[in-house]
Amino acid sequence: NKGKYEHYMQKEIHEQPESLTTTMRGRLIRGGSCKAKTVLLGGLKDHLKTIRRSRRIVFIGCGTSYNAALAARPILEELSGIPVTMEIASDLLDRQGPIYREDTAVFVSQSGETADTLLALQYALENGALCVGITNTVGSAIARNTHCGVHINAGCEIGVASTKAYTSQIVVMAMLALAIGDDTISSQGRREAIIDGLFDLPNKVREVLKLDQEMKDLAKLLIAEQSLLVFGRGYNYATALEGALKVKEVALMHSEGILAGEMKHGPLALVDENLPIVVIATRDACFSKQQSVIQQLHARKGRLIVMCSKGDAMSVCAGGSCRVIEVPQVEDCLQPVVNVVPLQLLAYHLTVIRGYNVDQPRNLAKSVTTQ
Ligand code: UD1
Ligand code: BG6
Repeated sequence: NKGKYEHYMQKEIHEQPESLTTTMRGRLIRGGSCKAKTVLLGGLKDHLKTIRRSRRIVFIGCGTSYNAALAARPILEELSGIPVTMEIASDLLDRQGPIYREDTAVFVSQSGETADTLLALQYALENGALCVGITNTVGSAIARNTHCGVHINAGCEIGVASTKAYTSQIVVMAMLALAIGDDTISSQGRREAIIDGLFDLPNKVREVLKLDQEMKDLAKLLIAEQSLLVFGRGYNYATALEGALKVKEVALMHSEGILAGEMKHGPLALVDENLPIVVIATRDACFSKQQSVIQQLHARKGRLIVMCSKGDAMSVCAGGSCRVIEVPQVEDCLQPVVNVVPLQLLAYHLTVIRGYNVDQPRNLAKSVTTQ
């Protein structure tokens, strides 16, 4: 049931304040006068000790689920102190990459049925790793075959392009980081700030959804483009990949997410006055580096669309002309949840205006159950 919406993707983008609330329900503990704020992931509580002892955490997934894990990687590394590596499921299988008993392998999948992710799970089980599932589908193959896990509880997702599952996956993996780091006194202040940020996140997403019309206007400007680049780094490298994936899969426009730190190692050659480029430059530890990226793109007359924190429009675009998308600022590790929303809206409107099927893009399936 699409309710008041024309398409499922549109509905699923707009229901993110509610889906995020459901994802967090019963899992954030407010603390009390002398009790710390904390998180409770029922499915993991008996396994946290084993996870903390593991030598490495390996995230494994495909498509949007892989991008969600990439978005959560920095905070998991920070709060756990454990090296976190990333695997696209098919690539791990192609390489038969090493997986050890001392590894915690985390399988991220909205459907819980993706063939490559399931085969990678079989492979990790055979190699003796602790296997953790993060899925939206109770009773799915990944939920059944992992040792433990977390349901993201985002509600049924129908649009082939994943939107609300992506933001809920990031939130669950941020909570995973909080749960693993829970025994570390030195990071308690940081963890409490993130928990406060999680409580407020649905409101911030509600606020960023107000950019709907602005993104529709931007889509009209981009309707006839051949290509769109998206530059990000740090917490928002994943946002760049995910924004580009959305544009590619539904709007059928070539789009590439680029790690801004790699700009000079190739992508800069593409920059001219015609190619539209989105640069994500919201406030975090990478902000000044992104400011310098913007300056260098300006120097090459790049056609820039800059996503920045509210109030930063003047400082990010100083000395050049660019279009600005201002988003509310949240705790740095949660910023990818806010930042992806305008890009989801842009991909949605671009698709509708270009006249393509937004809920069922050509050649794609919601759940890829064959290799
Ligand atoms: C569980 C209940 C929820 C109830 C809550 C009350 C289910 C599905 N969830 O939620 O309805 O309100 O207790 O305390 O009955 N699991 C995996 N692999 C996965 C995902 C999950 O093995 O990929 C396992 C977990 O380890 C856990 C179980 O499935 O044993 C349920 O997981 P989850 O729904 O996340 O647990 P709770 O949030 O505690
Ligand atoms: C398909 C979907 O390619 O599978 C994507 O079209 C999705 O939206 C990907 O990200 C992975 O699916 P899942 O269910 O394992 O998260």
